[in-house]
Amino acid sequence: MIRKCMFPVGGYGTRFLPATKALPKEMLPVVNKPLVQYGVEEAIEAGLNEIGFVTGRGKRAIADHFDISYELEHQISGSNKEEFLKSIRYVMDEGIFSFTRQKEMKGLGHAILCGETLIGNEPFGVILADDLCVPEDGMENVLAQMVKVFNQFRCSIVAVMEVPEDEIHKYGVIDGEEMKDGLYRVKSMVEKPAKEDAPSNLAVIGRYILTPDIFDILRNTPPGKNNEIQLTDALMTQAQDGVVMAYRLKGKRFDCGSVEGFVEATNYCFENLYKKGLLT
Ligand code: G1P
Repeated sequence: MIRKCMFPVGGYGTRFLPATKALPKEMLPVVNKPLVQYGVEEAIEAGLNEIGFVTGRGKRAIADHFDISYELEHQISGSNKEEFLKSIRYVMDEGIFSFTRQKEMKGLGHAILCGETLIGNEPFGVILADDLCVPEDGMENVLAQMVKVFNQFRCSIVAVMEVPEDEIHKYGVIDGEEMKDGLYRVKSMVEKPAKEDAPSNLAVIGRYILTPDIFDILRNTPPGKNNEIQLTDALMTQAQDGVVMAYRLKGKRFDCGSVEGFVEATNYCFENLYKKGLLT
């Protein structure tokens, strides 16, 4: 059973300056809820209630968000405003939260390695909170979809989706053999290739399930693209030595690390969730 989910949240959020100068990008609200809370709710709903944050300097607001604010609780206790705290109270009751710090930003692989102490020797989920995922109608959430795949294959799983050619350079890209509809055995992976070099149009999205041997692999993975330790390179090693599966997610994904994606997510959530009373 997978119980733990890691959230690498140390990044600077430079694409969102000046908003993110003093505010963690993960705390930017999509309608009325911070981005990171969407991710944590997804993990908890998927049964992963031990939440481990790999944070960095200037990110304390995230820890405060998942802790009790006595003054606020006291002020609004018994008033009709209490309903606004419903979703975060639920998350705080259901989740167990741990934090560690990534002292230097040396890539996603490095962040995951910093989080080893929160995970230990068991398979775990990873959510990149920037990637807001909304499942297809009637479907369970994307991480829960991936847990099902993990339970079948017991290997690392990456979420993928098809992206247009001129956007492929922003992502990790897989070369895979389709086993059945939407499920691929990964043959190779490359981080942020030029479009001429991309092995496919299947881009890795910020949802992973990783087996714990990834930590030893990451320790031995030299810096790659942009001189950062890349999770993609470590997964490539895992794929060569064993099995890594890619799962084409069923749902929508918004790149909330970019202004365009963030505004799209806001409009979508306002129309499809908030107005229908589904965003508490
Ligand atoms: C990271 C990963 C990349 C993946 C992407 C998904 O890149 O390195 O492989 O496709 O997340 O959002 P980043 O967007 O952090 O540069």
